[in-house]
Amino acid sequence: MSLKASRFLALLLLVALPAAAQQPLPNVVILATGGTIAGTGATSTTTVGYTAAKIGVEALIDAVPELKKVANVKGEQVMQIASENMNNEAWLKLAKRVNALLAQPDVDGVVITHGTDTIEETAYFLDLVVKSDKPVVVVGAMRPSTAISADGPINLYNAVILAGSKDAIGKGVLVCLNDQINAAREVTKSNTATADTFRTPELGFLGYMQDNKAHFYRESTRRHTAKSEFDVSQLDKLPQVDIVYGYANANRVAVDAFVAAGAKGIVNAGVGDGSLADPVKAALIDARKKGVLVVRSARAGNGIVARNGEVNDDQTDFVVSDTLTAQKARILLMLALTKTTDTKEIQRIFYSY
Ligand code: SIN
Repeated sequence: MSLKASRFLALLLLVALPAAAQQPLPNVVILATGGTIAGTGATSTTTVGYTAAKIGVEALIDAVPELKKVANVKGEQVMQIASENMNNEAWLKLAKRVNALLAQPDVDGVVITHGTDTIEETAYFLDLVVKSDKPVVVVGAMRPSTAISADGPINLYNAVILAGSKDAIGKGVLVCLNDQINAAREVTKSNTATADTFRTPELGFLGYMQDNKAHFYRESTRRHTAKSEFDVSQLDKLPQVDIVYGYANANRVAVDAFVAAGAKGIVNAGVGDGSLADPVKAALIDARKKGVLVVRSARAGNGIVARNGEVNDDQTDFVVSDTLTAQKARILLMLALTKTTDTKEIQRIFYSY
């Protein structure tokens, strides 16, 4: 064959070969923790009252044979729980496993299957302690695996594509359900039952999963993952931090009980702009005098809690949560307390993450 002909043949092969054959598939590890995505119901129409956390990771992977076309997938069962039972110890175990996997050159991304009830908390915890820019995607489902139109398979398929996507590198931990990509810091479960429950109210989600591809339109501006200062590699427990909810006719009982039980920090989900009823404020001031860190957040769930707005935080030595919900402020306060008890420094942390 002449040189010209062989060049032509090479060019033809390049054009004719499908893109997938030219690019090696990404290596994605799926860490399974339980939840509805692994749940089973009595019948195909059972979408409430089913049992979460029944199906193992291999069965989850086998149920979506299309995964093999988009990634080299491996599964590990890290735990098998309904996510209302997620706790600090489980988070530490999960974070250490994610960090160990992402340190391997042959792992491109990690997917975590998780119950939706506390998915936003696990995602934010990982966002603060994962030591890598590689994609970490947390995924769940609102319908059990046995239901008509179960959302688990498509959600898992999208999550694996996202975890193997170069566009997801450096975006922090992502929560991906219902074809939408959300940032761990801002996403929240907004409806008890519907498939479109995950929302990033006001600020908006980051992008879509469509046509076997991630499409990003924005990203979180806060510090996360590889740029985070938190390191849990040597920790086997976290400081006790509890949440007190604001309401009309509130009293000091919950604050005093948490302090008596040894809380190192209390997050108050206050009314309005983090406002405190007089008895609650008095209890929190007493708690602070005993060394307990106090963070004011807002039960409204959106907006900035103004420092020195409804409360003189400089005088009471309180910290404000910025825009974090109480459940996420609790996580950041626990991690902040692993580094310092200085309120100015903790306020700096709340304005950074
Ligand atoms: C759970 O959070 O484990 C149960 C609910 C769900 O996954 O949707």
